Amino acid sequence: MRNLEILTFPDPRLRTKASIVEVFDDELRIMAENMLHTMYTANGIGLAATQVDFHKRLIVIDISENQDEPIFIVNPSFQILDETIEEYKEGCLSVPKFFEEIYRPKKIKLSYKDLDGNDKELIAEGVLSVCIQHEIDHLDGKLMVDYLSPLKRGRIKGKLLKSKTKPKQQIQQRSP
Ligand code: NI
Repeated sequence: MRNLEILTFPDPRLRTKASIVEVFDDELRIMAENMLHTMYTANGIGLAATQVDFHKRLIVIDISENQDEPIFIVNPSFQILDETIEEYKEGCLSVPKFFEEIYRPKKIKLSYKDLDGNDKELIAEGVLSVCIQHEIDHLDGKLMVDYLSPLKRGRIKGKLLKSKTKPKQQIQQRSP
């Protein structure tokens, strides 16, 4: 398995809108496996294809403690089941080292396809719901920093651009 490069904010490629997956072939499967490997290596809980510069609607998620319950999600869409807004301190592998309070609806029903093209559904709340919504945002070219004030976003952008010239520090908390 290959470790893929994760694009970081403000890379403009993160703004690409991913296209629908129509062919469920080995290329898709290999990409999904490489994304999972990349996510585990980076100690993340979710990764969208957009983040590795592959612009198809493909997401990998694993919120388990032991990194042994991966979910492969293709062509996702969701319906809000509980509109109560919950606050969650989110991180992102494309916005390394920043954790910000983001507000999202609490409970969702996710409809998606697996890697074989079978239709699936999943009811999610808590961290799984947050993670799914965060990753679907990536597929639409949206980042968690878009929920912040322009001032805060600008500050994060400045710090990340600066840190690109410095050696990387270990990320302490697991991020989608
Ligand atoms: Ni992210």
